[in-house]
Amino acid sequence: MASPESADAAAPEGGSPRYVVEFRNVRKTFVAADGSECVAIDKVNFRVEDLPGKGEFVVLLGPSGCGKSTILNLIAGLHPVHPASGGEVLVGGRPVAGPGPDRGMVFQTYSSYPCYTVLENVAFGLALQGVDKEEREERAMRWIRRVHLEGSEFKYPHQLSGGMRQRVALARTLAVHPRIILMDEPFGALDRVTRWEMQDLLIELWHDVEATVFLITHDIAEAVYLGDRIYILSASPGTILEEVKVPVASGQAAVTQRTTEFAELVNEVSRKFESQVQL
Ligand SMILES: Nc1ncnc2c1ncn2[C@@H]1O[C@H](COP(=O)(O)OP(=O)(O)OP(=O)(O)O)[C@@H](O)[C@H]1O
Ligand SMILES: [Mg+2]
Repeated sequence: MASPESADAAAPEGGSPRYVVEFRNVRKTFVAADGSECVAIDKVNFRVEDLPGKGEFVVLLGPSGCGKSTILNLIAGLHPVHPASGGEVLVGGRPVAGPGPDRGMVFQTYSSYPCYTVLENVAFGLALQGVDKEEREERAMRWIRRVHLEGSEFKYPHQLSGGMRQRVALARTLAVHPRIILMDEPFGALDRVTRWEMQDLLIELWHDVEATVFLITHDIAEAVYLGDRIYILSASPGTILEEVKVPVASGQAAVTQRTTEFAELVNEVSRKFESQVQL
């Protein structure tokens, strides 16, 4: 257990490339329809180190509306959340200027193009990068096989199950080799067994791509199973209350998550979560 590392607010502009993502005293406000100001997040400070050959798996856990998606969207540089209203959001030591191919996003709801086939969706990011048709289809097919969707490459999204759609989203994101993978409740709409399958697949792919992952979930078991560290956020306006380090996932999700040891760990994190969020 440790407190979140507090960034040095007095540090000069720019940061160390040692940190893949760094938040320094970040605040984000929105203007509501009636003109009032809503503070989504405030005083958010954390640093995630760029571990060579092994990214970290960071999970954001917090009550609904506390600003988890806002944090992810600030890292992604996505409008209208980007830019921050105060503080600094640094990626690789540089302030985020907007979206970039170094960051890929997977959403809970289906985030591929309905009029494109699986193959076209997975190849889409490569096309944006100017990769020629033959090579991008070959690379896309490799990812389609990695997520076990071979045979479905010419199907359209509406012809796929929810789990298959999230496999497409994973393949589409990983095909462009982002250094940072941002996942906003990616498995929230899936049943328990499909969710376990997706968790196993994600861990397997994550070991291969060596990227840093930020994942939002409301499922504490999922947070404990997938995360290296869990940031527990307060209720709105969100700030990081506590950092919990958890053991790296080992064994299959369906087996590990049924063990007593795992249940104890989940209870421990649940208690911390509940006590912090009640504060
Ligand atoms: N584009 C926006 N315009 C206005 N307000 C926004 C916008 N995006 C987020 N907010 C507000 O900021 C706060 C944080 O929202 P955010 O979506 O980050 O929460 P969250 O923790 O992801 O919630 P959930 O768990 O329900 O997805 C909320 O009060 C929300 O209404
Ligand atoms: Mg959200």
